[in-house]
Amino acid sequence: MYKAPRGTQDILPPEQSYWCFVSQKAQEICQLYGYKRIETPMFEEAGLFQRGIGEGTDIVEKEMYTFQDHGGDLMTLRPEGTASVCRAYIENGMSNLPQPVRLYYMADIFRYERPQAGRYRQHHQFGCEAIGDSDSALDVEIIELIWRFYASLGLENLTLQLNSIGCPICRPDYVRELSEYYSQFSNVLCPNCKTRLARNTLRLLDCKEESCRKIAHDAPKIAERLCSDCDTNFQQVKHFLGEIAIPFQINPFLVRGLDYYTRTVFEIIPQEEGAQTALGGGGRYDLLIEQLGGKPVPAIGFAAGMERIILNLNKQGIAVPLIPEPKVYVAHADEEGKAQAVKLIAALRQAGIGAMLATGSRSLKAQLKKANAIGATEAVILGGDELKRGTVVLRNMAEGKQEEIPLGEVAKRLQGYGVGYDRNNECGTL
Ligand code: HAM
Repeated sequence: MYKAPRGTQDILPPEQSYWCFVSQKAQEICQLYGYKRIETPMFEEAGLFQRGIGEGTDIVEKEMYTFQDHGGDLMTLRPEGTASVCRAYIENGMSNLPQPVRLYYMADIFRYERPQAGRYRQHHQFGCEAIGDSDSALDVEIIELIWRFYASLGLENLTLQLNSIGCPICRPDYVRELSEYYSQFSNVLCPNCKTRLARNTLRLLDCKEESCRKIAHDAPKIAERLCSDCDTNFQQVKHFLGEIAIPFQINPFLVRGLDYYTRTVFEIIPQEEGAQTALGGGGRYDLLIEQLGGKPVPAIGFAAGMERIILNLNKQGIAVPLIPEPKVYVAHADEEGKAQAVKLIAALRQAGIGAMLATGSRSLKAQLKKANAIGATEAVILGGDELKRGTVVLRNMAEGKQEEIPLGEVAKRLQGYGVGYDRNNECGTL
């Protein structure tokens, strides 16, 4: 028996109402803020991600799905969306458009991680990138967008964590200081952190091992060592967030797992005990476009994990609208009835009425049982003497009442059964 690969999952019809709801809310908020959709390929040259995300990161070192194609080129299934969007910005000359260019995407993301609740090898991200401006008002716009997005889904008890990780002017001195601090503890660090000490010192700060967290607690804090431009940016971001009443917590240990960040970084985390899994995160990446071969163009963005959002919607018992299904079932009592049923149902659908046809040659009783099972509220029965009289039987499934009406009047009688997105429906359960 074949199985879905470890860390991947089928998204089955009962779950689709959640996916539909979350993507619709994402699109609505993007329209409100003026972000336009972009789609980039699911795979790119491996070098784009090595360069963009950074050689010393977990993603590049351990998690990329990289393969050689038949032409001998090294390709990688995208392990995140930002580098691809920046590549598209450069390649398509978007620096000639009015700046900042505001883009959003919904993308499958591939990372060879250890699967657990909320962590998959293929997941989906909704992300936004605002490229071409270093104004701290743009930092706040991006944070506001993601914050309001979660609110529009009805999610509660989320915490916005915020930090600034400086720039090439202030960060190198800080990293040296951090490295000196950590060197005193080099023999007690976890094996991962021992490697990080040499390769990716900042990441020492967000190690989840208890013993390393204790060490991080007294480590020098970057936000206290920012250069004056970075400090001004950070102060303004905090001030503007206060002005629009978005609550945040400064987290001096927040450094993010990708190397391209400068200045503002943030994550949104559920407050529940033990839930350390970010629902979304992002930050500024003012050097990335230049690093990828473009002009020096500052930018900021975020990505939110769709699977984690849906997990939290369920945890918080949030009802989402069901995707409407046809409520009319067309049954038949004999072969002539079936021939007429095929014609009738085609006409009903053309009139926008959602309807399903009984297939096969089961008894009428079995067909009506099926109509009940799929939740039809009306059944139309064709065949027998009625059809000879040019009529059909219309049966209300809930009440079991039925009446005989002319075949030509069925569409008119069922006009109310158009399939539309009904926001007042109750939630389906996963
Ligand atoms: P990231 O923090 O690596 O950032 O991923 C963004 C979000 O994707 C996470 O907060 C989480 O919700 C979700 N996520 C990440 N890995 C997994 C996984 N294995 N399984 C399920 N969900 C996951 C980025 O990818 C950056 N590109 C975000 C960004 C955009 N920064 C600037 N612009």
